[in-house]
Amino acid sequence: MYEPVISAAIEYIKELFKDSSDGHDAKHSIRVFQNALMIAEDHPECDKTVISLAALLHDADDHKLFDTEDNRNARAFLERWQAGRAQTERICGIINSVSFSQNRGKVPETLEGMIVQDADRLDAMGAVGIARTFAFGGSHGRALESSLQHFYDKLLLLRDEMNTQKGREIAESRHLFMEEFLKEYSKETCGSESR
Ligand code: ADP
Ligand code: NI
Repeated sequence: MYEPVISAAIEYIKELFKDSSDGHDAKHSIRVFQNALMIAEDHPECDKTVISLAALLHDADDHKLFDTEDNRNARAFLERWQAGRAQTERICGIINSVSFSQNRGKVPETLEGMIVQDADRLDAMGAVGIARTFAFGGSHGRALESSLQHFYDKLLLLRDEMNTQKGREIAESRHLFMEEFLKEYSKETCGSESR
């Protein structure tokens, strides 16, 4: 269904994340890949192979999970698939520009980078974003209210930092859903666990 290098990247990340249960797993990267392709439909000029590989590999060297330097896991895959030097640098450049915590306020330099960054941010929002946040908190031994704080530290800020029109549209409905969730949570706990 996908070109061979994309199918191989999917298999590669499934293996890489097989022990991960904190919301940074292969399924997250596959959703980011799918979000990115959806946004890319509005931008026929963009390089879909670069977008796909950057999306699939964007967490392959996340410092929270892997003790690698200089995108070693992503580079190992790209080398195996004989990606050229320029393409490898483009993909690694995008991967390094995606992270929210490491790039506060910085906009990626290329359209492909903007698309992958929006795609990753969308997966931090909405129902999946809520589920991932509590999975992350749980796997780090944190109480529910500590994960609630993450909504104010990051998740509710994302809507206003999207790069693309399609990203903004999807972010809007996911943002409203998170606000609804927080309202309901506060109601059910009589505000005792909110921040
Ligand atoms: P990025 O890779 O963009 O810097 P993170 O890896 O910090 O973003 O976060 C990815 C996801 O992990 C978040 O969207 C959230 O679901 C979860 N997460 C990260 N930090 C926390 C936290 N302190 N509490 C709860 N969830 C978190
Ligand atoms: Ni991610």
